[in-house]
Amino acid sequence: MPAFKTKINPQSESFKSNYLLMKEKVAELQQIMQKSLFEGDEKYLDRNKKIGKLTARERIELLLDPDSPFLELLPLAGLGGDGFAVGGTIVAGIGLVSNRLCIVTANIGTIKGGSIDYTTLQKNLRISEIALENRLPVINLVESAGANLPDQAKIFNYGGIVFREITRRSKNGIPTISIVFGNSTAGGAYVPGMSDYVIMVKNQAKVFLAGPPLVKMATNEVVDDEALGGADMHGRVSGVSDYIANDEPDGIRIAREIMSFQRTFEKEKIKQNILEPVFNSEEILGIVSADIRITFDSRELIARIVDGSEFSEFKPDYGNTLVTGFATINGHNIGIIANNGVLFSEAANKGTQFIQLCNQNNTPLLFLQNITGFMVGKKYEEEGIIKHGANMINAVSNSTVPAITIIIGASYGAGNYAMCGRAYKPRFLFSYPNSKIAVMGSEQLAGVMEIIQREAAQKSGVAYDEEKGAFVKQKITSEAEKQSSAYFATGQLWDDGVIDPRETRNYLKLCMEAIHTTDIKGTDGYGVFRM
Ligand code: COA
Repeated sequence: MPAFKTKINPQSESFKSNYLLMKEKVAELQQIMQKSLFEGDEKYLDRNKKIGKLTARERIELLLDPDSPFLELLPLAGLGGDGFAVGGTIVAGIGLVSNRLCIVTANIGTIKGGSIDYTTLQKNLRISEIALENRLPVINLVESAGANLPDQAKIFNYGGIVFREITRRSKNGIPTISIVFGNSTAGGAYVPGMSDYVIMVKNQAKVFLAGPPLVKMATNEVVDDEALGGADMHGRVSGVSDYIANDEPDGIRIAREIMSFQRTFEKEKIKQNILEPVFNSEEILGIVSADIRITFDSRELIARIVDGSEFSEFKPDYGNTLVTGFATINGHNIGIIANNGVLFSEAANKGTQFIQLCNQNNTPLLFLQNITGFMVGKKYEEEGIIKHGANMINAVSNSTVPAITIIIGASYGAGNYAMCGRAYKPRFLFSYPNSKIAVMGSEQLAGVMEIIQREAAQKSGVAYDEEKGAFVKQKITSEAEKQSSAYFATGQLWDDGVIDPRETRNYLKLCMEAIHTTDIKGTDGYGVFRM
């Protein structure tokens, strides 16, 4: 395959100015990411340290293989909300333990006793989904006071899903290992309770349905917490624990040992001699437009993320606002669908055809979303833009090969749906910091509302209040602008994280390994295509 010929000139003014703007956006991302590193007030961190306990992130570092990457998931969940912390009271991600790819979660016991608030629950639910779909073993580093009690009404019902999913994964041959490092009460107790392997750390783990004060209140029994739920009691008497660890590093060592006996799910070993892209990933910052209204050639991005920058383009001369083609990432085949402008009927048809081809030859899909929507107007309605878009949505809805979506610019309207947005269940979805997601652009949205309100006033025979109208328009624009930012989206868990565009290939490499833990089997069945 001939290597891609770039048209990018890193010396050009447009490249340089865009590079600086994107660099600012990445710097802003790095600053916001600092918030997710918060692990509690000094008071709790000091107390923890004095008794020799590690923090959640220190535990993760010790657990992972020394050279393992850690693909952190949903680090900014709850951003802008009123939860306990950005990212909730849990750290979660994908990494290697004893050379096996797995999910690691760690309760942050130093924030509100690691209790589960609404954001943390939502994050747990998404992590469960990722574990099941990708057949990834889960290692939980447990220290949790259970549900956030003042907020129990929002957590109680759906909280049950977390426990249901542990046992469903177990039934499907996907193990869960829990190491208990501290207090693990009620809901927190059922995480180890449901797990396949349980390790409790001596003199630290306290696992019970109710702590000593509640037991006293309920039955008048007086008992201390060690006798009620310590590692020794659970390891020697109740059988809730399978291993008693001498200390935290020993607990982690035991978990690594258990992992070394799990079968590897990788169908193909990580391939040798993978060609890195010919072009420098740093250039991505000069290519991807900081201002989403300015278009850029998505082939230039593809050339910086696929093996050897080799891309075999499909239908390059047809429907050219959608780029489709085959490449490899970390040695695995992938079908790529990338926007290169607004979607016209031909482009939608090409996308539909390409999704079918990837299903026919069992090839996963990568969607690179930069889409303002489908083309509007009389001509396009007459040629059936709705049915062509609907056909692409039909194909993406029924496709059974795993998909990964990255929002690299705009993600508006039905374009989000046809390009495998969150509702279409890609295995992973990441966003760039410049990206915007909404039903349409904020100015367009406010403009449409203004037209509707003017017409409504006319129909009722009243004069349109210009001053009030201008005020409302401005308010709608700024509200829509705020709600369409990548940071609002990630705070709502509409993606699995906002990423530095230069890191795209590293994320994709790990995601490709994760999706290849399962059989990849395309479908030959779709809903009825409207002709
Ligand atoms: N919901 C909300 N907040 C909780 C909480 C819960 N379930 N459990 C603890 N917290 C908060 C405390 O109010 C305190 O908040 P603050 O930092 O604003 O003061 C913080 O977490 C630390 O709690 P503290 O009791 O000082 O920590 P500890 O290490 O001494 O004890 C526990 C930890 C878990 C033993 C103890 O907090 C406890 O028993 N919690 C209730 C557990 C429970 O019954 N859960 C049932 C859930 S279904």
